[in-house]
Amino acid sequence: MKESVEQAINDQIQVEFQSAYGYLSMSARFEDLNFKGAAKWMRMQWQEENMHAMKFFDFLIRRGGNPRLQPLTAPEISFNTPLEAFEIALSSERKVTRLIHELYDLAVEKKDYSLRTLLHWFIDEQVEEEESVEEIIQNFKLTGDSGEGLFLVDRELGQRIAEGGEE
Ligand SMILES: [Fe+2]
Ligand SMILES: [Fe+2]
Repeated sequence: MKESVEQAINDQIQVEFQSAYGYLSMSARFEDLNFKGAAKWMRMQWQEENMHAMKFFDFLIRRGGNPRLQPLTAPEISFNTPLEAFEIALSSERKVTRLIHELYDLAVEKKDYSLRTLLHWFIDEQVEEEESVEEIIQNFKLTGDSGEGLFLVDRELGQRIAEGGEE
């Protein structure tokens, strides 16, 4: 594997773990605000992001590369309402989408065909993630400040079930 490709995948592993860390921090904040459903949703998202990191990690190993873990930074995420939280999540996911697309550009440029195939999964995954966060934002916008509405949306978020683990 080309060194520049290996480095870029290692950078993406850091991005995915950092993203996981951000969701875990949001989960803690939601526990504090007593939104149990959103806290659970965020915790599941933490798991998903870890799984993303591990997909790249395993890919590197299978290709004879070396995962080199980089430092994470403490998440600086503060919010007072679920709407704010999911807007932060959306902008974070959009940034990740851009990075995945840049990685794809590199894979094309370096003629790394198997990385391109792996990235097809990630490109689809980003569409799904942005879509689901946008839908949640829409729901919180509709509820506004209604306590009953917030309760119902939170309860729905708590019903999220894990996706099928390994692909
Ligand atoms: Fe991810
Ligand atoms: Fe994500």
